[in-house]
Amino acid sequence: MHILDGKATADEIRKELAEAVQERKKNGKKIPHLAAILVGNDGGSLTYVGAKVKACDQIGFESTLIRYDDSVPEEILLAKVQALNEDRSIDGFIVQLPLPPHIDEMKITQAIDPKKDVDGFHPVNLGNMVLNLPGFLPATPAGILELLKRNKIETEGKNCVILGRSNIVGTPLSIMLGRNANPGNCTVTLAHSRTKNIREICLSADILIAAIGQPDFVSADMVKEGAVVIDVGTTRVEDASRARGWRLKGDVNFEEVSKKCSFITPVPGGVGPMTIASLMINTLKAMELKGK
Ligand code: GUN
Repeated sequence: MHILDGKATADEIRKELAEAVQERKKNGKKIPHLAAILVGNDGGSLTYVGAKVKACDQIGFESTLIRYDDSVPEEILLAKVQALNEDRSIDGFIVQLPLPPHIDEMKITQAIDPKKDVDGFHPVNLGNMVLNLPGFLPATPAGILELLKRNKIETEGKNCVILGRSNIVGTPLSIMLGRNANPGNCTVTLAHSRTKNIREICLSADILIAAIGQPDFVSADMVKEGAVVIDVGTTRVEDASRARGWRLKGDVNFEEVSKKCSFITPVPGGVGPMTIASLMINTLKAMELKGK
């Protein structure tokens, strides 16, 4: 069994991006600028946004963090999105999800200028992705593909089972892995909460990707010997042995599954850092597309 080290692969990408920034600086060109909107104090969101800002610092991108209280009215958020759309110094921006229940996430997502939508969540970018047209790919699926590619994992002709049909991971990933591309050309099954015989379906997977947010859902008896296992789950579970009182847990029972598979991503240090690396790639691309 080999560990698919997302942190090491993301570090490699960060280094490449840092070099691109240095090159731009040398040539007197603009430095990419990412903005992030964070609403409320959700622990997971704070960690993710913090990691995105830190990655910008490490690479040499400019970043701006905009924070609002949980009670922020939807109109205020929409007005901010509009202001960022019009702000020429900002190349790309994200609105960290989830948002509080009184805010319509889809309305906010649709208000973002697709040319600045570096998360790749806008319907225009998702549509372009489906049609294999240029656009921004959603960060987590793109990060998973990049991880497979850079670690030379063959996908063509493989059976790929994805657990979870979310808008930001499972659904776009199912399309990206089924496309006529490399990575891609998989035969994809998208399994979800209504799927019957989930164990049997998982056992057919050469590549098994779990993105449901249920710690330890995937047990060894669901995994084919020699499969590639990608764990997107990052649930906080109590852990009294840690000073902070919690640790991150994936959707895969790493302990038992790692004994059976050929490759596996750890949690943390697997898909998470690759998501951030993809966001950075998209931010550089957003600026280059503007011809700056
Ligand atoms: N919430 C969980 N993952 C993501 C992500 O990749 N982008 C945003 N904006 N919110 C998220």
